[in-house]
Amino acid sequence: MIAKFHDSPSALIFNSGYDANIGLLSCIAERGDTILYDKLSHASIRDGIRLSQGQAFSFAHNDLEDLKNKLRSKKGQCFVVTESVFSMDGDMAPVREMLALCESADARLIVDEAHATGIVGNHGEGLIQHEALHHNCFARIVTFGKALGCHGAAILSGELLRNYLINFSRSFIFTTALPPVAVAAIKTSYEIFPAMFAEREQLKELINFFRQNQTIHTASGKTFAFKPSGTPIQGLVVPGNEKVKAVANHLAALEMDVRPILYPTVPEGEERLRIALHSFNTIEEAGKIISALKEI
Ligand SMILES: Cc1ncc(COP(=O)(O)O)c(C=O)c1O
Repeated sequence: MIAKFHDSPSALIFNSGYDANIGLLSCIAERGDTILYDKLSHASIRDGIRLSQGQAFSFAHNDLEDLKNKLRSKKGQCFVVTESVFSMDGDMAPVREMLALCESADARLIVDEAHATGIVGNHGEGLIQHEALHHNCFARIVTFGKALGCHGAAILSGELLRNYLINFSRSFIFTTALPPVAVAAIKTSYEIFPAMFAEREQLKELINFFRQNQTIHTASGKTFAFKPSGTPIQGLVVPGNEKVKAVANHLAALEMDVRPILYPTVPEGEERLRIALHSFNTIEEAGKIISALKEI
């Protein structure tokens, strides 16, 4: 069902997105192969790469020139890894251009769609499929713990990779599979979310609202800026762990649940409030956050 919805030859379910990424990236490259990954990639991608026999290099975030340069010095088989929607910045990868670079350099593209699943595309199919690039993408990782409200993940790929993972992916082999109740929840979510058009429209309106309020000038004379993002992840950079915690507490006192993201999860000086917009949020609530931020 999942493979069919994502128009993929196959899908292999893992217990979580973390397990899917470490299970794939730890076994896909062999000694003498190369993995190139976006510098802002999620910890699960990095951890998988750490366990890999291949040689890994990061490229600057969403930087096609840097990726092109790194592709020139690749050795062996080459895998390029990115997220379609970045978990901390909410921006999207230039996947079309990245795929073109991969194809011209005989490299294989792997895209983590954790934050795009259920959100991006007319039916929430994710960015790669929305852009009709899925037939040329080596593997996509969709996760069920975010918009889908469940737990688990799947690697979408050709049959050959699926069979390879069943035989070599240690986080697939050496752990108990999801219980039927979790699989039933995922199945139900897939029966519901593709038709949640109104909810995705509401998200778009909320995102537009934030795009019109990109800079916050506060009553005490400070200026904070949002990270440019066209997705439900909206990050307002408030440098300093203590400062961003204080702003989050201010919002919590006004009954707004917004989490501070601290160093070292994000680079020092880039600490931020990470606002995760939900389809049930109203424009009035979005306005309430912006007004509360202006008060500080
Ligand atoms: C981009 C990305 N990939 C993978 C994961 C891991 O997914 P899971 O929570 O299902 O382990 C996360 C966050 O949790 C994520 O943000």
